Amino acid sequence: MRIVVAGATGSVGRAVIRLARARGIGTVALGRDAARLAGVGADEARAVDFRDATSLQACINPGDVVFSALGASASPSPFMGRRRYHDVDVPLNRALLDAAVARKAARFQYVSLAFGRELRQHAFADAHEQVVDAVVASGLPYTILRPTGIFSTFRRLWGFARLGVFPIPGNPECRSNPIHEEDIARNALEHIEGDSAQLEMGGPEVFTRREIGLLLCRAAGWKHGATLRLPNWFHLMNAHLLGIISPRVLDMLRFYLVISEFDNIAPVAGQRRLADYYAQAANNKPGILGGLHRSGW
Ligand SMILES: NC(=O)c1ccc[n+]([C@@H]2O[C@H](COP(=O)([O-])OP(=O)(O)OC[C@H]3O[C@@H](n4cnc5c(N)ncnc54)[C@H](OP(=O)(O)O)[C@@H]3O)[C@@H](O)[C@H]2O)c1
Repeated sequence: MRIVVAGATGSVGRAVIRLARARGIGTVALGRDAARLAGVGADEARAVDFRDATSLQACINPGDVVFSALGASASPSPFMGRRRYHDVDVPLNRALLDAAVARKAARFQYVSLAFGRELRQHAFADAHEQVVDAVVASGLPYTILRPTGIFSTFRRLWGFARLGVFPIPGNPECRSNPIHEEDIARNALEHIEGDSAQLEMGGPEVFTRREIGLLLCRAAGWKHGATLRLPNWFHLMNAHLLGIISPRVLDMLRFYLVISEFDNIAPVAGQRRLADYYAQAANNKPGILGGLHRSGW
């Protein structure tokens, strides 16, 4: 069996390749940048244009599992792409899905998000759910993975932790159970065959936003870090200002506010702990922009 991983240079894609190789499953990494792809450690790496149906089909063999963590970045940096989620996630994943159907793939696996169906009025969630709709309608067996916050998202806020002050829009007491990217990958590989499924999944520990911020500050070396409650109007004003440079960031920061206002807790499917992840991140000594731009700590 082979697994063809799209978005292979991202946090979840890298984890899928690592775990699949450890289980003796053949891996093909798809991405847009040959140099970054070379670093993910797949058996085979193919730089492709995801809008080109012919080159996508050439990467998939009948019977392959196609896994997609392909999507515009969730980073709040305006320098990680301007294009909105609807303009990246939907067309690129649909092209990949069409190629998987045409090449008679055995299964399509896709990373959406917990509560995505309930939050469809927001662009970030709706773009993912449009892909889910297409996957379900495709006739291929599927696995939809629906994680809460992925650990890698919080590391993107490392720069604030370095300053010792972690800003929080919305409600600092709202709770969630974020999940390690490797736990998402493990769940994907455990559902590589069998009935189609949609799996909501979170990590083993529930934290408030404030606790997540303080944990990150401590990992960055502050014994007494602090959190700063951002008024929603201030958060949205900054979102609109950054949105001038990147409309994608406006979509992201609007969504970040929404999920910072209610408890989003999913069934426990992860084992790994956030404090260990941050400690490992700290050992890598990221700079002030650490993690903001590319995955791969
Ligand atoms: N952040 C969260 O907490 C969260 C929660 C639930 C679900 N999700 C979703 O889960 C999925 C996987 O997350 P992740 O952390 O693995 O994301 P990630 O680290 O940002 O990786 C995204 C992948 O998509 C690729 N990509 C982005 N834009 C592209 C384009 N225009 N053309 C070709 N490739 C492109 C990236 O390639 P490059 O390396 O070349 O940029 C990267 O390989 C995403 O759809 C994300 O939205 C995220």
